[in-house]
Amino acid sequence: MPAAQARLTFATVTTSAEAQTNSQLAARLADPAFWATDPHPHLARLRSQAPLALCEEPDVPRFWAVSKHADLLRISRDPATFCSSKGVLLMDLVRDLPHIPGALLYIDPPDHVRYRRLLNPAFSTSKMRALEANTRTRVRALIDALPSGEPVDIVAKLTVPFPLLVIADLLGVPGEDWPRFYKWSDIMIGAATEITDESITMLGEMANYFLEMVAQRRIDPRDDLVTMLCHADVDGHTLTDEELMMFYGQLLVAGNETTRNLLSGGLIALAEHPDQWQLLRDDPARIPIAVEELLRWTTPVISFMRTATCDVTVSDTQISEGDPLLLLYTSANRDEDAFGPTAIQLDVTRETNNQVAFGFGEHFCLGAALARIEARVFFEEVTTRFSTIALAGEPQRLASGVIAGITSAPLLFTS
Ligand code: HEM
Repeated sequence: MPAAQARLTFATVTTSAEAQTNSQLAARLADPAFWATDPHPHLARLRSQAPLALCEEPDVPRFWAVSKHADLLRISRDPATFCSSKGVLLMDLVRDLPHIPGALLYIDPPDHVRYRRLLNPAFSTSKMRALEANTRTRVRALIDALPSGEPVDIVAKLTVPFPLLVIADLLGVPGEDWPRFYKWSDIMIGAATEITDESITMLGEMANYFLEMVAQRRIDPRDDLVTMLCHADVDGHTLTDEELMMFYGQLLVAGNETTRNLLSGGLIALAEHPDQWQLLRDDPARIPIAVEELLRWTTPVISFMRTATCDVTVSDTQISEGDPLLLLYTSANRDEDAFGPTAIQLDVTRETNNQVAFGFGEHFCLGAALARIEARVFFEEVTTRFSTIALAGEPQRLASGVIAGITSAPLLFTS
């Protein structure tokens, strides 16, 4: 692969806010800059005007935008008809997909089933609960280190380090290594669209780090995820070194940016809704339910794609074999048909919450139990420690159609 490849973005999309046709409405979703603004009015329009909208604009890949909750579930639960192996990002439509053993998001059954049987036990709720005490210690230390009486960038000070420290604990590596994980995770994300000499060097550095760790754990097993995965065996199949490297890398990316943005977006939402913050302070037992609502509200993963493996009908719309379908989790999570007339309101006491922030079906998030524990512990600690939180400046949002990212957000905490 050439060292410097053209950056694959569709920022030149020619559609505007006044877009009228269904195709133009869908095409806006392919522009990363669109996602740095409030996408919800546009998504609401898509849901009502064109729940399945086909993008057929010049210079934009051809794809269906799926904005309704029910359609997203129907597609996600049928991986035989809607596969992942032809790509899960819009970018994948304009590049050659490399075959990477163990890249879970891109694998279909039956191989996918085999991988998940091997991995699921290591991520069970009971296994993740064992990490809770450590996780609490990590967040308390970060809160203790916050400067008092002045605005704090919660991204730099809290929500970047916290999930990385938890992943380090999960893997069984020293917590001080988290800045390297941060660097590697960023490089892996960048490498999905642009391979540079620097990314090749850094990915090599990461592979060596993990290979060394695997070699150590093979001779000196410990009670950690690295040991568990290098010894995992289902039907005589164990993970190869290549699969293990890919897997640890995926954990860094999948478990880091996602959780970070749930926590950043959740804190911002609570700062903007002081009544909801107060509800949690009054009764911390509400926090597990609030976490589901914050997952719905923030939806850290905006979209993933599937490809139709045959001609098929979805909600009376004819989809052809080979058609890509973009599943819009962000839209499904505000769908009035799924969440009722209060779908556009933040309600941390919402009891019935069929949110799809972790996806659904075959590829349902492997780290969901861990993310839920991290978020619960995080919000328990901040609501106990501070009486109020307020925005002290405008949060900066990432221009990305995949991750609902917040790059900085100054907040003022009052004890
Ligand atoms: C708030 C936090 C998180 C969110 C919103 C989230 C979201 C998602 C979503 C939407 C998918 C489904 C992909 C699809 O259907 O194609 C997914 C898959 C995945 N997630 Fe998460 N995730 C989170 C945290 C984590 C954590 C903490 C880990 C691991 C430590 C993790 C590891 C994975 C992996 C490995 C997959 C691929 C599963 C598969 O394809 O079988 N995630 N995640």
